[in-house]
Amino acid sequence: MDGLRRLEYRGYDSAGVALPVGGELYVEKRAGKLGNLDKALAENNGEPAHLAATVGIGHTRWATHGGPTDRNAHPHSSADGRIAVIHNGIIENFAVLRARLEAEGVEFASDTDTEVVAHLLSAEVAAGASLSEAMHRVVRRLTGAFTLLAVHADDPDTVVGARRNSPLVVGRGDGEYWLASDVAAFLSFTREAVELGQDQVVTIGRDGFAVTDFSGEPAKATPYTVDWDAAAAEKGGYDHFMLKEIDEQPAAVADTLRGRVTETGEIALDEVRLSDQDLRDADKVFIVACGTSYHAGLVAKYAIEHWTRLPCEVELASEFRYRDPVLDRSTLVIVISQSGETMDTIMALRHAKEQKARVLAISNTVGSTIPRESDAVLYTRAGLEVAVASTKAFLTQLVACYLVGLHLAQIRGVKYADEVAAVLEQLAAMPAKISTVLDQMDPVRELARSLAGQHPVLFIGRHVGYPVALEGALKLKELAYLHAEGFAAGELKHGPISLIEEGTPVVVIVPSPRGRGVLHDKVVSNIQEVKARGALVIAVAEEGDTAVAPYADHIVHVPVVPTLLAPLLTAVPLQVFACEVARGLGLEIDQPRNLAKSVTVE
Ligand code: G6P
Repeated sequence: MDGLRRLEYRGYDSAGVALPVGGELYVEKRAGKLGNLDKALAENNGEPAHLAATVGIGHTRWATHGGPTDRNAHPHSSADGRIAVIHNGIIENFAVLRARLEAEGVEFASDTDTEVVAHLLSAEVAAGASLSEAMHRVVRRLTGAFTLLAVHADDPDTVVGARRNSPLVVGRGDGEYWLASDVAAFLSFTREAVELGQDQVVTIGRDGFAVTDFSGEPAKATPYTVDWDAAAAEKGGYDHFMLKEIDEQPAAVADTLRGRVTETGEIALDEVRLSDQDLRDADKVFIVACGTSYHAGLVAKYAIEHWTRLPCEVELASEFRYRDPVLDRSTLVIVISQSGETMDTIMALRHAKEQKARVLAISNTVGSTIPRESDAVLYTRAGLEVAVASTKAFLTQLVACYLVGLHLAQIRGVKYADEVAAVLEQLAAMPAKISTVLDQMDPVRELARSLAGQHPVLFIGRHVGYPVALEGALKLKELAYLHAEGFAAGELKHGPISLIEEGTPVVVIVPSPRGRGVLHDKVVSNIQEVKARGALVIAVAEEGDTAVAPYADHIVHVPVVPTLLAPLLTAVPLQVFACEVARGLGLEIDQPRNLAKSVTVE
């Protein structure tokens, strides 16, 4: 329980444990925070059989498939209750595996992707395999991302773990072992750790542990000594959650893209309570959201209009409802909310539903109010975002918006499977490109420190660079309490340019010179305009763009990507910049003054 408590920052919508003891499996699991599980375990103190167990697995969940209920909480057990499994990640091919198992007569007790693993392990064990052999066979049939741990009632001395695209660390204590997705869980017991490599299985027993690859061949895992303290460990060694969350963006984007395409090449939503015909009948799209989510919506407008040819308006949720928007049953309203609990957005959603509009939600929180009240849902898979200023949730919202745009285009027959596949391929390349941007952030940090809280700071951009400029300014306001504004670069000359004095920092999001070259040239002209008035120009530009160099004081290069997808890269240096300015000023990074992560009042 102590270990789980230290992992609660990863999510806490349900929790559970499984302990093999006395030839049985003791399983307890509860929806809600860890306290609920604690209470359930305490209530069993009169019958403390499980306290005799020397092996156990436990899990604290952040729902991805299946809402946060008791039955969807981990561990998941085989039908005979002899094997229990916990899982982090997403098993992409679970639907196919589940269908096959159901055809064989297996009854499922949850809506999770995880449960297939319990049944598959059970079948292998029934065919004579040990738990470890069974795990090797099963993981070879899985695609996606997983850290799995399993225990068996008949083998109370063994835990088997496996990992692919999701972390798993072994802790080596004195006569005891620990397995966790993060060293924070066992740091109070041991600092000696062994990190499992990609596609490895670990089998732990009384006499030690063995690491193998998925085919069962001995494999090498890397031992190390953890030198973080317990508080730093929860933040993965980072000083602040926000820094960690910025670095988690490549993985969060990859997770949000994972397993989205059906076998017939269609993009699938997570929950759909409306027909394809409803989506075909839509003649207008409204996107409604607040804060950073609103900025994701502004980017989505460009993609949705371009791909679907449907008119799309983006509105702040707090304004939408009270201006009596024109809505009917052929309006599609897309609500974007990381938390799924923002009151302004909930009220806008309810207003849209009263007017008979169809509502599609994009949210990071399975089972929250907004997804529950919507007609369809696409979940982002950023994992729990702790820092108030949104970073990884924003990037995954962009991904979700692209997926929704493609889904609509496909359903309405504007785009064919091969065109969608081409965009998905470009999206699939984004995590690596975001990593490239993150690897080159030292000069941005240095620049942020050198500006030492100078303000105002202006951010300008065109096309999808405009919402990125708004988001860059919002980040600086939220974190560094500095006056920062984002503008459409073309609008500058109509007023804001009068703010510029000698040395005023102006951050310019420069569009790619390829494709829509005209936009690029216009932004280069805007750079010259501000430069001529004394601005300190910081350009975020594509690699190989030589046109900005003569006018920019600093250039941050990002890899070449299609114009519509560029915000996934250009937003990142602005997050790092704002965070570093705030750090330089000695401000609270994860919980800036006056703000809340989720605002549940109107
Ligand atoms: C608050 C947070 C922002 C967030 C906004 C919308 O204001 O401080 O970071 O963007 O709410 O939140 P949501 O959960 O609806 O995306």
